[in-house]
Amino acid sequence: MLLPSPAPGALVIQPLFPVALGQVQLRPEPLDLALQLQALHALRGDARSNPDPGCAWTGDLNGVWQLHHHGTFVPLIRQLVDHAKAYLVTLGFDLHQVCLHIQRCWPVLSEAGQVVGRHHHPNAHLSAVYYFTGDGSGRCGSLRFWPQRQVNELVPGMAVGHGAPLAEADWAQSSWTTPWIDVAPQAGLLLLFPAGLDHGVLPNQDDQNLRCSLSIDFVLTAAACGPGQAPPEYLAPHPLQWDPV
Ligand SMILES: [Fe+2]
Repeated sequence: MLLPSPAPGALVIQPLFPVALGQVQLRPEPLDLALQLQALHALRGDARSNPDPGCAWTGDLNGVWQLHHHGTFVPLIRQLVDHAKAYLVTLGFDLHQVCLHIQRCWPVLSEAGQVVGRHHHPNAHLSAVYYFTGDGSGRCGSLRFWPQRQVNELVPGMAVGHGAPLAEADWAQSSWTTPWIDVAPQAGLLLLFPAGLDHGVLPNQDDQNLRCSLSIDFVLTAAACGPGQAPPEYLAPHPLQWDPV
């Protein structure tokens, strides 16, 4: 891509290489949402956290990793998959040349004070989060994203500590150098992002409400190919054509 030339005169700063965060605000039917929340409570059972009591209960560590096979969630997840495909098209994929797989789909339930630490999903290509709860305020625990590397931070730690080199403390939060971006959960909100992007969940500060979401890890492979055909070099072949050894 060739960057357009700036008009003569003033400084122009261009945002290069943006991270693709997809957002879709769905409108869940109240009855569907009530049934989904009821099912999530049942799936969690008596547990209240992962082994670390400060960490939210996550289905992937508790045997609930195929929510896409659970009848209560099948229609919703089908809808989420359609949006994932639209995300891929926007990024330039030809959906006839790839096969999108759900690798894992699991709920995350966060009691007051609980978090999910910073991590990414190196096993997957595309990740999604869908919120069953949240009012858009971030009170129940925002999702925080970190850049892979903040190359605009010309001086490492430039905004930290006393006598920082910035003219105004607020500049540390400017879009050119911000160390993270927070997204507030809202019931019906879907997020799509590269699976390699670091993220974590901030503490649920709402004593009255459980924070409920589901996560999906997607993997892209080549479509299954026929005799004499070969998958594109940079795509894994379709898993049906793998051989366990
Ligand atoms: Fe995650």
